[in-house]
Amino acid sequence: MKNYHVAVVGATGAVGNEMIRILEERRFPVGKLTLLASERSLGKELSFRGKPLPVEVLTENSFPGIEIGLFSAGGSISEKFAPIAARAGCVVIDNTSVFRMAPEIPLVVPEVNPEAIALYKNRGIIANPNCSTIQMVVALKPIHDAARIKRIVVSTYQAVSGTGKKAIEELSRQTRALLNAQEPEIKVYPHRIAFNCLPHIDVFLENGYTKEEMKMVNETRKIMNDPGMAVTATTVRVPVFYAHSESVNIETEKKITAAEVRRLLEEAPGVRVVDNPRENQYPLAIDAAGTDETLVGRIREDESINNGINMWVVADNIRKGAALNAVQIAEILISRYL
Ligand code: A2P
Repeated sequence: MKNYHVAVVGATGAVGNEMIRILEERRFPVGKLTLLASERSLGKELSFRGKPLPVEVLTENSFPGIEIGLFSAGGSISEKFAPIAARAGCVVIDNTSVFRMAPEIPLVVPEVNPEAIALYKNRGIIANPNCSTIQMVVALKPIHDAARIKRIVVSTYQAVSGTGKKAIEELSRQTRALLNAQEPEIKVYPHRIAFNCLPHIDVFLENGYTKEEMKMVNETRKIMNDPGMAVTATTVRVPVFYAHSESVNIETEKKITAAEVRRLLEEAPGVRVVDNPRENQYPLAIDAAGTDETLVGRIREDESINNGINMWVVADNIRKGAALNAVQIAEILISRYL
């Protein structure tokens, strides 16, 4: 079997760290691993397969010889360096939002639209969707296939790790400060996140929604290949370290019962149904954290309309929402195309 030269761009970040771990865990056939970050990380080492590897500074000359680049260093870095990498022959799997809505670039969740990976040939770039979108479409795709979803109303409860390492530290620091009766320092978000909920993720747009909310709308339509699907989202940052939770309400064209949804999801790839309210069993962020599955529970019919379902969907935003999804894409890429 062929081994590949893989680069992780943004290797020192929350998602980059997890990418390295997942490549190792899933025994991805890595011949050589190149770790790239900013000058701030010069001299740092990270461990891969039990051995220390130096972090190198990302430059325009980083890519010759690299076959697969997993990018997670922010939008401006991807915007500049992904095309440079692609020109050097590296297939980029990009975790930022920069390329997601470009029509010629595939936006992929392996459980939902793996066939779109073939379009990597257009520009040498595959986009990894937004974390909140990924877990939602993993849970909704089997229902869409069975009963056609007409409308989605989603509210999210998103962990701070989605903002990166600085936000993880900010929640820890603010929590410690408040429990010690000290004034918390506010740096990452516009308001205190400890013991609070912020209905504000990414920037506000002209239409009153945030960019995160519109990512959920537009990316869901693209991944599900259904431009007419009605989607509306409210995205909220909550003081949780890992795993996003979502309240998802759908309206379907065909009637589908809660029992049928449960049965479909029990068979669905990447999904684990946790739905036994009598025993207080439902998906929890603390159970999803560190795992690969999308947990779905609280499945019930929406009694306010004819064909409606409510559910609660939870997944590790750094794993399925980012690093794992990217590595799964890379696995399909090498097995079918490279
Ligand atoms: P560095 O640690 O050197 O700053 P997070 O999302 O957890 O904040 O991580 C962001 C990742 O993106 C880090 O690995 C960070 O590297 C990397 N990064 C940020 N800015 C640059 C840059 N100008 N060039 C290369 N990597 C960058």
